Amino acid sequence: MDKPQWRPDAIDYPSIAGAPDEYLKLLFDFFANQVDDSLQNELISELMSGYSGVSRLLEEKNRMLNDYNERLEELVRDKVREISAAQMATIHSLVKSAEARDDNTGAHIERTAMYCMLIAEKLYERGKYEDVVDDFFPGNIAKASPLHDIGKIGIRDSILLKPGNLTRDEFEVMKTHVRIGYETLASVAKLYPGNEFIRMGVEIAMYHQEKWDGSGYLSGLAGEAIPLSARIMAIADVYDALRSKRTYKEAYSHDKSSEIIIKGRGTHFDPDLVDVFIENRRLFADIFDGLSQSADE
Ligand SMILES: [Fe+2]
Repeated sequence: MDKPQWRPDAIDYPSIAGAPDEYLKLLFDFFANQVDDSLQNELISELMSGYSGVSRLLEEKNRMLNDYNERLEELVRDKVREISAAQMATIHSLVKSAEARDDNTGAHIERTAMYCMLIAEKLYERGKYEDVVDDFFPGNIAKASPLHDIGKIGIRDSILLKPGNLTRDEFEVMKTHVRIGYETLASVAKLYPGNEFIRMGVEIAMYHQEKWDGSGYLSGLAGEAIPLSARIMAIADVYDALRSKRTYKEAYSHDKSSEIIIKGRGTHFDPDLVDVFIENRRLFADIFDGLSQSADE
């Protein structure tokens, strides 16, 4: 018996195919596509699961990196704070040593820093001089104001500590303390041009003896041409000097001192700043009393 032969032409194919070979090809293609799809799906699902694993890993790595960065930033911030505090303490001790020559209580610079910060905070609350008084202004002026009389280092004892009034020539020498302070601090400011505290210290040292009407020294500036920080310092410095005993005067009461400050509104002092003083004068008295007591204890 003959071996049966594969005879596709003998099969009764459905009439949908035009030719037997084409029909088989369609069937093979159909199965091949099915196989491809299932393989493809399996592959995609494996890839997806792999991807989600990698993605989880990446998320975890990112989280760890963020935590690390935050810890690093915190560490840097702590270090900057520490260095800054150490620098401020050094500056403070140098200023205190200089101030000790003509300040019996030793608390003048602390009190003036407090008055300056008080005025600056009140200006900030009122939105007054908002082009200058930003969030940092009160803190900066508190740190910079102790530098106001740094130039007195260059004034000899016979003038600085002279009991009674100075002669005209002696007063001319005394006036140079603002220039000495300016030159000392300006050389530092040149090295650190971005440092607001030093920049403000330069302004205050140079212009705190100016008067609103232009009759002060050393530059004879008037009105808003005098930097705001120096205008604030002027009130703080004068109020504290009035309240304190000096070689040439007794200590005045709060009322008498306030009266003198108010009388200087628009002549010696910026009228807006005197208004702030008037509204908060009890706080000035509190600062004086509080810090005088702590200095005496
Ligand atoms: Fe001064």
